[in-house]
Amino acid sequence: MDVMECLRTRLTVRAFRPDPVPAEVVQKILEAGRLAPSSRNLQPWHFIVIRNPDTLRAIGAVATSGRFVADAPMAIAIAMENADRPELDAGRVLQQMELAAWSEGLGTCFVGLRVADQNRQVKELLGIPDQIELITVLPFGYRPQGMRGAGRKQRKSLDEVAHGEQFGQRYESG
Ligand SMILES: Cc1cc2nc3c(=O)[nH]c(=O)nc-3n(C[C@H](O)[C@H](O)[C@H](O)COP(=O)(O)O)c2cc1C
Repeated sequence: MDVMECLRTRLTVRAFRPDPVPAEVVQKILEAGRLAPSSRNLQPWHFIVIRNPDTLRAIGAVATSGRFVADAPMAIAIAMENADRPELDAGRVLQQMELAAWSEGLGTCFVGLRVADQNRQVKELLGIPDQIELITVLPFGYRPQGMRGAGRKQRKSLDEVAHGEQFGQRYESG
């Protein structure tokens, strides 16, 4: 899939087909993450592939903003170790994973895990050591057919966010 086509059509997916995600597709998603850029090229990440339905259900039971993890066939947790800018580096990883997955017919959703107690509980479930920061769990699965809102994005217009030369000046494309 062309990059711009992928960017235009990608949407967050919170319901998945039950079909398992083939190993080669999981590999492609991991590879997309591995290739991400990072501050000082430290690559301070760990990717935990979760396929055990009991673990997926347990994460869904803990994560109030990601109940749907319970019904995903697979998930990848992104954890950061000694990162300069953990959220920025992890953001690059997960966007690359998300786009690679989308191009294969899958979807995902960033699950925040920002509530300290929920984050701690999911770290325990995954055996993540204290000093390593858990950023997100990304559930992955094939997108349901005829997904509601497919291809439609709700975004501010360029006029609202793009400035020309100076903040507050209108950006003229011509
Ligand atoms: C940093 C970040 C955190 C997010 N956290 C959650 C979350 O915890 N649960 C959830 O359902 N969606 C979460 N989302 C998904 C956003 O709601 C979604 O990306 C946004 O509404 C735009 O929709 P779209 O991705 O379909 O274009 C998060 C997205 C980002 C970028």
